[in-house]
Parts: sequence; structure tokens; C-alpha cells
Amino acid sequence: MRVDVLTLFPEVFGPFLTASIIGRAVEIGSVTVRCVDYRDFTHDRHRGVDDKPFGGGPGMVIQCGPVFEAVEFVERDSPKKPVRVMLTPQGELLNQQIAQQLAAEPWLVLLCGHYEGFDERVRTGLDVREISIGDYVLSGGEPAAMVLIDAIVRLLPGVLGDARSAVEESFTDGLLEYPQYTRPREFRGMSVPDVLLSGDHARIAAWRKEQAKARTRRRRPDLFQPDDSGGQS
Ligand code: 6GU
Repeated sequence: MRVDVLTLFPEVFGPFLTASIIGRAVEIGSVTVRCVDYRDFTHDRHRGVDDKPFGGGPGMVIQCGPVFEAVEFVERDSPKKPVRVMLTPQGELLNQQIAQQLAAEPWLVLLCGHYEGFDERVRTGLDVREISIGDYVLSGGEPAAMVLIDAIVRLLPGVLGDARSAVEESFTDGLLEYPQYTRPREFRGMSVPDVLLSGDHARIAAWRKEQAKARTRRRRPDLFQPDDSGGQS
């Protein structure tokens, strides 16, 4: 997968792209990420990308020019068209299903906003899918772009060491994850549930499923759907 990130702050992506799972994905070539600075597409001495809103009001608005030119720059000479994603608090809420959809795309262009947001003509003049990562306000789209990249890249083939990790975890099956334990068996008076030490794989699987369901029902009733698979819960 190819990802182009358009941003006013390319430097904040550095360690994110080299550490841990994403770093490995880049290393093994599962994803190529290029950060492009809107400021490289300004034509004035001060490299200005924002201006006061028409009609008045607080803050500054990102101008069309540098955004359209940056998009045209990364897409130039390519017969294929990427999916363009704009990170804004007004977008559809990111969830695992959207991450899976986007993970199936060969090429994404992510547009990060800042300040009071983009000139509306970026939305209407470019074909973008707007995505928000939650109902709170960030000062810019960069952390949201990192969240999105992380959610997507870990789904790409070969990125997670154990292919089961990506399917067994929270949300893929509509449930929160079950509790996990590792050594030591006893820590400050707290012990690991006996069933996990039993070696009985069927009992362990059943216990985990029950834990996941109970946890989801208690913490996220909005996600919980009683099933009809015959088990009592
Ligand atoms: Cl994508 N951008 C900003 N600025 N704030 C947000 C967001 C995005 N998602 C939630 N809050």
C-alpha cells in the first residue's frame, strides 16, 4: 500500500513511522509512507497557507491553493487514482469496518487540516472521504492520520507476526477482548485464573468467549448483541 500524507507538520510523523509495528511494515515494504508539506506549494515569500475567514470570526482557515497543488503533485503522472481521505472532526466516525475497507485500497492520500479547518472548497472541489477519530477536538489532523495509518497498516498481509492476532482481537468479532495474563502466575497476591493453566483448549476458548461477552455487555452495551448460538450468558 502507498500512503501520501499532506500536512503542515511532516516532522511529527518521524518516530511514528520508524517504531514498532508500523516501522516493521515500512521496513518489509508492506507500506510506503510519504509526507508532503503544504508549504512547499505556496508562492509567496512568507510561505503562507492560511488566511482570515471571510465573514469574520476567530482563527485562520487553510487556503485552497496549497492543498489542491499538493494533491495534484502527489497524484501527477499516475493513471491510477487514490482514495483521498480528509481528517476532520466533521467526518464519519472511524471504526474497524472503515479501517478494513481502507486497508483493501492500494493507495491513500491523507489530508491533515489545522487551525479552524480547510476552506470549504477543498471539500467540494476535491473528491474526499471525511473521517473523524472521535467526538472531541484536536488542534490538527496529524494525530488522527497516525491513528488511521496504525489501524490500517496492522491489517495489511504479513504485518502482524501471528495472523490470528488481527482477527482475534476487539471489534473484529464485535466484542471487546478477553483478559490476558502472562508470567508470573502469582503477583502481589493476584493470581492467574486456573482455567488458563489447565491445558484444556476448549475450556479456555469457552472461558475467553464468556469473558469477552460479559465485558462487552458491561462496558459497551452499544456494541453488545445477544447471540442465538445456544450458549447462556
Ligand atoms: Cl480527524 N481532526 C481534528 N482536528 N480533530 C478531531 C479529529 C480530526 N477527529 C476527532 N477530533
